[in-house]
Amino acid sequence: MTDDGRVTGTGGVLRIGELEPTFEKHLAERYDIPKLPDGPRRAEFLAEHAADIRVVVTSGWAGVGADIIAALPNLEVIVNNGAGVDSIDLDAAKRRGIGVSNTPDVLSDTVADTAIGLILMTVRRFGAADRYVRAGRWERDGQFAYGRDVSGLDVGILGLGRIGSAIAARLLGFHCAVAYRNRRPIEGSPYRYAESPVALARSVDVLVVATTGDHRTRNLVDRTVLAALGPDGYLINVARGSVVDQDAMVQLLADGGLGGAGLDVFVDEPHVPAALRDLDNVVLFPHIGSATARTRAAMARLAIRNLDSYLQTGQLVTPVLRPRS
Ligand code: 8YV
Repeated sequence: MTDDGRVTGTGGVLRIGELEPTFEKHLAERYDIPKLPDGPRRAEFLAEHAADIRVVVTSGWAGVGADIIAALPNLEVIVNNGAGVDSIDLDAAKRRGIGVSNTPDVLSDTVADTAIGLILMTVRRFGAADRYVRAGRWERDGQFAYGRDVSGLDVGILGLGRIGSAIAARLLGFHCAVAYRNRRPIEGSPYRYAESPVALARSVDVLVVATTGDHRTRNLVDRTVLAALGPDGYLINVARGSVVDQDAMVQLLADGGLGGAGLDVFVDEPHVPAALRDLDNVVLFPHIGSATARTRAAMARLAIRNLDSYLQTGQLVTPVLRPRS
């Protein structure tokens, strides 16, 4: 370590993909970590350094697939800046005993705030109301059409984990009746449990998706679930685009089979289907669920704590998978 506290000579650590900017800044204050090159230079880099790499740091945007894991024979740990680890091949990591850490908890409140914002914007049509004023339509066409009350709605949460629970707590302030669907009921939960995603969708006005995004949740919100939500129902997604059948959702939204949607996440980010952008009953965010300065700094600090801890003690602070020692 140098006099300014910066760790040098961190041989064995590799960055993969673009890092979230706050994480990149915090990391650069402390470490000098090489980045895995793209294109033809990648093979050259791996031929020279692959055997030295013990730790990978990433923000989950580029992903750490089975190919990269296979190319790093001595990899021990992947440190992810983000709660979701869906872009990391966890099966491949598990087979090799590679540890994976994420950044849970510190973002739950901020993501829950985003979900509430999407509910308000979608159900009360605040986004459309803003567009109405900007387009000069208030002067030209008169009063904006009435929206629907958020207070008192029945809301279903698909995935009552840390983020889902933070959303539910906020909804109580709106006097909403909260129900949820998990793989198993939570003992002692004050909220009504639904036996399936369809049963949940059928019984609520708003369905909020707050699950993890992995092979078990892929298209969990399929056409049947969306149709059960129905023409007066709203879908809110702050989880991952992969959890929802996006094509079915777009079609139902366009045909009136689904009332509206508030979306922070999409199947192929940053690409958002043109058909979705043309609809007035949707609110579209560019994956900003956790994007506040305070939360992104807290996530970066937690990711760096995981890195420091592993390099110093061989333990991760917030493991999703523990490294085989
Ligand atoms: C960020 C997220 O997009 O934490 C997650 O899983 O989806 C977001 O908070 C991302 O992780 C930033 O690196």
